Amino acid sequence: MATMNQHHLKFVPLQRTIGSWNLFSGALLLLLPWFGGLVLGEISDNFSQCLNFFYNETPPSGIPAAGYQPICQRYKNQYHFASLYHRQHRAPLYSAYILSPADGKRPNNTWKYEPQLAFSRASPEMKSFYGDAPVDQNVIESQAVLEDYKNSGYTKGHLNPSMHQKTMADREATFTLTNIVPQQAGSNSGPWSGLEREVLGKFKAYCNGSMYVITGALPYITERWINNRVSAPEYMWSAYCCPSYSSNLPTSMKKFFPTYAAVGRNDRNSSQEIVPVNVKARASVRGYDVRRMSLETLEDILAQRLGMPISLFHGQCQ
Ligand SMILES: *[C@@H]1O[C@H](CO)[C@@H](O)[C@H](O)[C@H]1NC(C)=O
Ligand SMILES: *[C@@H]1O[C@H](CO)[C@@H](O)[C@H](O)[C@H]1NC(C)=O
Ligand SMILES: *[C@@H]1O[C@H](CO)[C@@H](O)[C@H](O)[C@H]1NC(C)=O
Ligand SMILES: *[C@@H]1O[C@H](CO)[C@@H](O)[C@H](O)[C@H]1NC(C)=O
Repeated sequence: MATMNQHHLKFVPLQRTIGSWNLFSGALLLLLPWFGGLVLGEISDNFSQCLNFFYNETPPSGIPAAGYQPICQRYKNQYHFASLYHRQHRAPLYSAYILSPADGKRPNNTWKYEPQLAFSRASPEMKSFYGDAPVDQNVIESQAVLEDYKNSGYTKGHLNPSMHQKTMADREATFTLTNIVPQQAGSNSGPWSGLEREVLGKFKAYCNGSMYVITGALPYITERWINNRVSAPEYMWSAYCCPSYSSNLPTSMKKFFPTYAAVGRNDRNSSQEIVPVNVKARASVRGYDVRRMSLETLEDILAQRLGMPISLFHGQCQ
């Protein structure tokens, strides 16, 4: 009986197990010890498998471990970036990646989820939602699903955007909901995408080695939710670290290296203390401004709003 169930889990796609999941769950609990040495993965409480996506192989410090799940984003047998998932928010706090300009055309954007959030010993690879097929209840409980975004008034906002990733597999891997937060269309296709293009431009023009980027979400002080399940951010934020850059930077570019940062509005009604509004912007994007700032200023804002003394890059990328 035990052996049969192991094989059942190993070889049968997750979707096929849905109907019987509740019946099996009791038996599965009893069987957990059997899975220790098998080929199934085991979700880690740290980023040990994907430290290369962080400057100096050091993830941000100052974030308490409780409630957050590190995810090494694995797709087609490779790690592509890293995300820190906030389980209660069903959304990432941040994604961390190495910027590399996209090659070729826009990828296949099949949306994916993270099996390990539903079942800690599931495959370490992200998996696609299959059309309108019903989604496993354990997946629904553990993370955002496409249904949450339908009619929510928000778009699916990438933290690690597809255009900052090189190969087709790298780019397809960004289409996982664990890299996505609810983002207003006016931000997503307006000033925030302008920031993404600007960072790409700075990388191409002046960054010699790797550019490490960390992009995240800043929730409301009193959380707001879509579908009563997924936390919507009041602001988006992003910072980069390019430790090796052109030795003859124009004077106007000096403040952008080795680090720079930004915060973007995701709610045109927010107060203007963190990011002021340009009232002359065209109506479709008005109120979704992005304020450029130093890494230190961003870290101050995060410390205040999240109540965490976050340091994003080891030694401030110096
Ligand atoms: C990271 O997690 C793995 C298990 O996934 C564990 O073996 C390792 O000791 C952990 N490393 C640290 C530094 O905590
Ligand atoms: C897109 O990706 C899915 C899942 O990997 C795959 O089944 C499908 O064939 C792909 N479509 C194209 C056009 O590559
Ligand atoms: C960076 O690359 C440029 C040429 O692209 C070169 O002139 C410069 O010396 C390099 N700087 C460093 C610090 O390697
Ligand atoms: C912003 O305020 C307007 C008018 O009060 C309201 O209709 C809209 O829902 C608000 N938007 C958000 C995102 O709260």
